[in-house]
Amino acid sequence: MTVPLKTPVLKTGAAAVEEATRLLAAGGLVAFPTETVYGLGADATNGRAVARLYEAKGRPSFNPLIAHVVDLKAAQALGRLNAKAARLAKTFWPGPLTMVLPKAAKCRVSDLATAGLDTIAVRVPDHKVARDILAGFGKPVVAPSANRSGHVSPTRAEHVQADLAGRIDLIIDGGPTPVGIESTIIACLEEPVLMRPGGVPRAAIERVLGQKLAYAPSGFLRGNDAPLAPGMLPSHYAPRTRLRLNVDRVAPAEALLLFGSGLPPGGKTAAKTLNLSARGDLIEAAANLFSHLRALDAVGASAIAVVPIPAEGLGEAINDRLARAAAPRPVSTR
Ligand code: TXA
Ligand code: MG
Repeated sequence: MTVPLKTPVLKTGAAAVEEATRLLAAGGLVAFPTETVYGLGADATNGRAVARLYEAKGRPSFNPLIAHVVDLKAAQALGRLNAKAARLAKTFWPGPLTMVLPKAAKCRVSDLATAGLDTIAVRVPDHKVARDILAGFGKPVVAPSANRSGHVSPTRAEHVQADLAGRIDLIIDGGPTPVGIESTIIACLEEPVLMRPGGVPRAAIERVLGQKLAYAPSGFLRGNDAPLAPGMLPSHYAPRTRLRLNVDRVAPAEALLLFGSGLPPGGKTAAKTLNLSARGDLIEAAANLFSHLRALDAVGASAIAVVPIPAEGLGEAINDRLARAAAPRPVSTR
């Protein structure tokens, strides 16, 4: 039997952060926890490191990356914030909000990382490990979710190891990520537009802006061929097992993903059952979503049956990820 290649894992702490910044400076790839999901970090200003990152993930290089920085001042060196963007930054950073901004003239992020666009996605994460790395490194770090392209996002170090073992230089294990679902992406080019529902609920953003947000999930950016949010094309976040959503009945040999205290007919015979939140809490459900999907995927059931999840609050992002996981997809994205 062949022994699978492993990537070294370090528990969080000063030594791990130091090793991470050393590797980043040398063009390495480091997976680290953020409050949303684990990110796969590379020096955003180093084109070769960014190229390696696309390669390690198996990600198409026309799908741009989010640049992570430690604070607003560092964000302003990358993108231009209009008044509404500034208000969102003030309210939600650090935190699970990404803003797509017009690229600043002095922005040193590699063109490969932004897929040649004149915009850049910027985020200030709220997780001690991520922040210590960003502060220690002192330069922007691009960090897509640390999974193989098109696969379920990682919320634990073991998920990263399962997807990327031997393809990256270091994994920092900070335990499960608290939010569990990726950042909300708002395009702040002119009027703010919701591009990806995520860790900050839409209603919270609408409250701060005093306006409703338009939604442009897979629109195209100003007439050129680059998708506005290419990662939002249907085949994303996919487990290998087929998903059946909004079920009111479970078929024999299906795995079952529950929410709340109810059990649909046929549920007792499920191959394996996991509950996103028995008490019906959408925050707890978001935190459990990707690890439960991975665990049910591992059963090899005929399908994963998912009960209806309410659409309010983080439910919008949860339903978005479930719909994408259920969408038919080409083999090449898996
Ligand atoms: O929570 C998160 O955002 C995580 C953690 C690690 O920070 N990161 C993450 O990155 O989800 P990723 O690469 O999996 O998703 C980034 C999304 C992609 O859908 C990409 O197409 C979009 O952001 N994006 C990046 N730059 C963009 C740009 N300039 N214009 C439009 N969309 C952009
Ligand atoms: Mg991703």
